[in-house]
Amino acid sequence: MRTADREARPGLPSLLLLLLAGAGLSAASPPAAPRFNVSLDSVPELRWLPVLRHYDLDLVRAAMAQVIGFCTSIVAQDSRGHIYHGRNLDYPFGNVLRKLTVDVQFLKNGQIAFTGTTFIGYVGLWTGQSPHKFTVSGDERDKGWWWENAIAALFRRHIPVSWLIRATLSESENFEAAVGKLAKTPLIADVYYIVGGTSPREGVVITRNRDGPADIWPLDPLNGAWFRVETNYDHWKPAPKEDDRRTSAIKALNATGQANLSLEALFQILSVVPVYNNFTIYTTVMSAGSPDKYMTRIRNPSRK
Ligand SMILES: *[C@@H]1O[C@H](CO)[C@@H](O)[C@H](O)[C@H]1NC(C)=O
Ligand SMILES: *[C@@H]1O[C@H](CO)[C@@H](O)[C@H](O)[C@H]1NC(C)=O
Ligand SMILES: *[C@@H]1O[C@H](CO)[C@@H](O)[C@H](O)[C@H]1NC(C)=O
Ligand SMILES: *[C@@H]1O[C@H](CO)[C@@H](O)[C@H](O)[C@H]1NC(C)=O
Repeated sequence: MRTADREARPGLPSLLLLLLAGAGLSAASPPAAPRFNVSLDSVPELRWLPVLRHYDLDLVRAAMAQVIGFCTSIVAQDSRGHIYHGRNLDYPFGNVLRKLTVDVQFLKNGQIAFTGTTFIGYVGLWTGQSPHKFTVSGDERDKGWWWENAIAALFRRHIPVSWLIRATLSESENFEAAVGKLAKTPLIADVYYIVGGTSPREGVVITRNRDGPADIWPLDPLNGAWFRVETNYDHWKPAPKEDDRRTSAIKALNATGQANLSLEALFQILSVVPVYNNFTIYTTVMSAGSPDKYMTRIRNPSRK
């Protein structure tokens, strides 16, 4: 966490606000997210400068620390044993966040150490990939009271859920190590972590309490469970009728069939209403075994 800690110093947000300049991005449908390299070999105060040149101060006025992941994530295995991972990030106030969504390639010694999708000015990652190792997404889990989260943040050494994704991408050597770190590290809030690997059966939904795992739900393709869908509800309970994105996603996966699974098919599944909805800001599809195919598209590009 050293890097994230240093970057999160109070000075940096104001530095960002002073430096942002430029214009919003034009939008065709559905456009790819802009992609930038950020070198971890530069000091934290300077590494974002080349990226920030492209952005407008007004766009970042929203409090980035408030961003949470309200969402759908899917991890799945095709008939040949390839692992695919996709996610929709849904959030209100998308008109601002859509313009700030970027894919960032974090470089160490000139090589891509990991890739993440984030919002300019936001330190954590909700979506990312460690090439040839694993992919991770996070979905919000509402549980408990806000003051419990505040106490966890203030009085205990618990770290934000999106920082842990970034730290895991930066530090974990393989799928198993990533799952262990994401399952066990104390957090300031509950969350779902969805992780995909590179080998058959390497896919899991981790349901997190602040202190540790509440449940670990792996793929089980030999018994027909070739995908796992996680929205914002515990998988062992029925999804609420008024927000059942889960059943729609499962129907679309069933209709696609394991043999026909691909990143493009996963994108189409994540485009089925209401899995795709007016709050969807971006869709990312990724497969750690084919890291070059990492792709984020901005959704609802014309929505205000
Ligand atoms: C980003 O870094 C990668 C890896 O070093 C390199 O191949 C690519 O050309 C860089 N892209 C830009 C826009 O600098
Ligand atoms: C999806 O397919 C499985 C296996 O055939 C079936 O048990 C399940 O009910 C299907 N789910 C939906 C929502 O269609
Ligand atoms: C997979 O796609 C083929 C056509 O490309 C189709 O015939 C087949 O029914 C599909 N499989 C499933 C399980 O839907
Ligand atoms: C978005 O909202 C409008 C109403 O404001 C509705 O007609 C439309 O179906 C919604 N689109 C999606 C993808 O949910």
